[in-house]
Amino acid sequence: MTAAPEPQAGSAPEKRLFIKTYGCQMNVYDSERMADVLRPLGYGVVDSPEGADLVVLNTCHIREKAAEKVYSEIGRLKELRAEDPASAGMSIAVAGCVAQAEGQELMNRAPAVDFVIGPQAFHKLPELIAQSGKTRSRARGERLSSEFAAEEKFDALAGPAAARKVTGPAAFLTVQEGCDKFCTFCVVPYTRGAEFSRPAGAILDEARALADQGVREVTLLGQNVNAYDGAPGGLAALVRALAGVPGLDRIRYTTSHPRDMDAALIAAHGEVEALMPYLHLPVQSGSDRVLKAMNRAHTAESYLRLIERIRAARPDIALSGDFIVGFPGETDADFEATLALVRAVRYASAFSFKYSRRPGTPAASMPDQVDETVKAERLARLQALLEAQRQGFNAAVVGRTVPVLFERKGRFAGQVVGRSPYLQGVFAEGPETLIGQIAGVEITATGPNSLSGRLAQNTADQATAMMEPA
Ligand code: 5AD
Ligand code: SF4
Repeated sequence: MTAAPEPQAGSAPEKRLFIKTYGCQMNVYDSERMADVLRPLGYGVVDSPEGADLVVLNTCHIREKAAEKVYSEIGRLKELRAEDPASAGMSIAVAGCVAQAEGQELMNRAPAVDFVIGPQAFHKLPELIAQSGKTRSRARGERLSSEFAAEEKFDALAGPAAARKVTGPAAFLTVQEGCDKFCTFCVVPYTRGAEFSRPAGAILDEARALADQGVREVTLLGQNVNAYDGAPGGLAALVRALAGVPGLDRIRYTTSHPRDMDAALIAAHGEVEALMPYLHLPVQSGSDRVLKAMNRAHTAESYLRLIERIRAARPDIALSGDFIVGFPGETDADFEATLALVRAVRYASAFSFKYSRRPGTPAASMPDQVDETVKAERLARLQALLEAQRQGFNAAVVGRTVPVLFERKGRFAGQVVGRSPYLQGVFAEGPETLIGQIAGVEITATGPNSLSGRLAQNTADQATAMMEPA
């Protein structure tokens, strides 16, 4: 491995870095870490591409639309570079899963792109830039995307040169990456590679460093986070260890596979106070025939039994899921089975998608692809049901006082925004000094996307006292 370029702290002129993130939370984490590896080279993050020295598109390949958006964005950046003198020196890097899956095609189809760098190679961005001699390398061909070396990446990111800087009291923390499940619709095993778990020691070090920066909540990330095996005892043991980190009051994890939801993890939901009562557990379909064709390794019934066990451990848990409608061969009856499963579970939130044919995946070449209009109709029906459940879950919180971790200022003066244990956004009137604190909020109303409430009396008093001069 070539050494990373020497940090040029102080002497380096400030360079403007704009990162646009698509897709999942792991990409959000990766984008933050890209900013961390580029900071020693003098790059500071800006919030628009105009005048940027380097624009990174951190891309998602999960559905067709996601990849198409990237090509449109490259077109816009190309125009900006040609027309805006302040942006003439801009380099364009494509990172993430489109870079991994379509590296060569990207280079051919989008000559405006200077660097292509896959999800396991972004720690080498400084090297790539240094090798090009200047930020903008028209001598293209630098494509670091084909190998999967998650371990090397995490080792590099753990070094002092890429010290992690966070803003705000809630942070993501990648603990596992990749997938060995090979659901027949999914590109992830091809773009993120095989399952890899970071050693628990490195995760705990990162968590302590986050807590030192005021982080109170971590969301542990992994494509199959509950397959985590970087410590004896798996994810449950990791969660218990993290709960002991001073300052960390809340722990979440996502995304899980029903197959890896073991007894120890279920028990942790009932026993570890810091583990928040929210679980994203994708099921994809309620039809056993479709689940089999998807290679999901669970049935509707086994999923429902699992939910029962989780609810027995933590009765108030908020459940979330992912659904695909219009998988090849899905009939009306299969779709009705999905609706029936949703009714049985009662989700607090969910993500649902029309099946998107991904080149190279087994489902793409299955017979009986479903008509787009049928997919659209099914999606609308499913989303109406899920939305009604979400609203019902939110309405049930009205009148209760819930602890809210305040994360930022609201849109209106005097307002602060945070999250409930159930991951609901909550607005309240209160001083900015509440940001970074957990305070009781009596929920008074539900809006389309969030709840509002008033600070519980003792918290409001504390907040006022905090504002008054000593
Ligand atoms: N088409 C539609 N949705 C997909 N997902 C993954 N691959 C596809 C696809 N080809 C959805 C699944 C997964 C979520 C992250 O994205 O529901 O859980
Ligand atoms: Fe994709 Fe299935 Fe792996 Fe999830 S478990 S990342 S849906 S292959």
